[in-house]
Amino acid sequence: MSSREICQHHDPLNGKEEQLYSALDLKSEILELKKQKDALILAHNYQLPEVQDIADYVGDSLGLSRQAAKTEQKIILFCGVHFMAETAAITCPNKKVLIPDLGAGCSLSDTINADQLRKWKSEHPGAVTVGYVNTSAEVKAELDYCCTSSNAVNVVRSIPSDREVLFLPDMFLGSYVAKMTERKNMYIWAGECHVHAGIKPQEVQEKLSQYTNAEFLVHPECSCTSSVMYDVACGDYGNRQVQILSTEGMMNHAKSSANKKFVVATETGILYRMRKQNPEKEFIPMSDSAVCKYMKMITLDKVYASLNEEKYEVKVPRNVAQKAQLAIERMLAIS
Ligand code: 13P
Ligand code: SF4
Repeated sequence: MSSREICQHHDPLNGKEEQLYSALDLKSEILELKKQKDALILAHNYQLPEVQDIADYVGDSLGLSRQAAKTEQKIILFCGVHFMAETAAITCPNKKVLIPDLGAGCSLSDTINADQLRKWKSEHPGAVTVGYVNTSAEVKAELDYCCTSSNAVNVVRSIPSDREVLFLPDMFLGSYVAKMTERKNMYIWAGECHVHAGIKPQEVQEKLSQYTNAEFLVHPECSCTSSVMYDVACGDYGNRQVQILSTEGMMNHAKSSANKKFVVATETGILYRMRKQNPEKEFIPMSDSAVCKYMKMITLDKVYASLNEEKYEVKVPRNVAQKAQLAIERMLAIS
């Protein structure tokens, strides 16, 4: 029995226990429980700072999928959103995959379901379907290729140029990929992430004029990506430095760049890790309101309960998982 359980058992004011329990104790309880349960904790770059701190790996969707696929541990506790845990459940059918809150969804993955995709495919017979990892398992089961923001361009480049491509569900990432690959036969689903779509070109313009010496790191899901790419291509930024990167791409760039100041256009959770790894550099959010409420549903309390009670297990039906696996394996094979 853990000291947390002993404390709950003996405390006559049981309801107050939650408040009395310090974050530090909770952190060490989780780390202890993690060992006992033989669990691997994965956390996405947008997770709360305290959740990132107890994770074995913090990273982007691709990196976390890779870690899940190669782990030897019995339990994978996924601190992220539901489609990420589902992807881990598909790649690791013999592991128990847990998510601390089943409500942690994704507005982008909700923009397309399997019926809609089947209908779209029937309108383009012979087209190759490429779906962002931010999709449900049922949608992945209908895909030829899965991709993430860090390998979407290379996945599309790997498809013969005479084949039509259906790209889903993010229209901003899709238009970025179409520009980078100069592909004319690519159809893009009109989906978006409410957090990234909420970062407006005006905010970009304001930051550009305010931070003249900063480097700009922009996630391809942002609604400003298309216009930023267009302007960069036209030379409108002169020698200003703008990088379109996945969250892990941003992390790597922030470390390797000689620049000292960065404006970051993605969910603000990534700033914690950036500042921690680069204390001598300055990171400014493009938009303070770029916060994903789904990512923030995962708290330390819920992580503890999830590990302790081995809830909530994410399971994907075998027939769906088998079909989705091929698309995911193709994603993992292309960097
Ligand atoms: P990354 O793959 O770049 O981490 O993005 C995942 C995501 O959900 C972005 O909103
Ligand atoms: Fe989904 Fe957007 Fe949240 Fe990423 S930031 S998990 S795309 S809702």
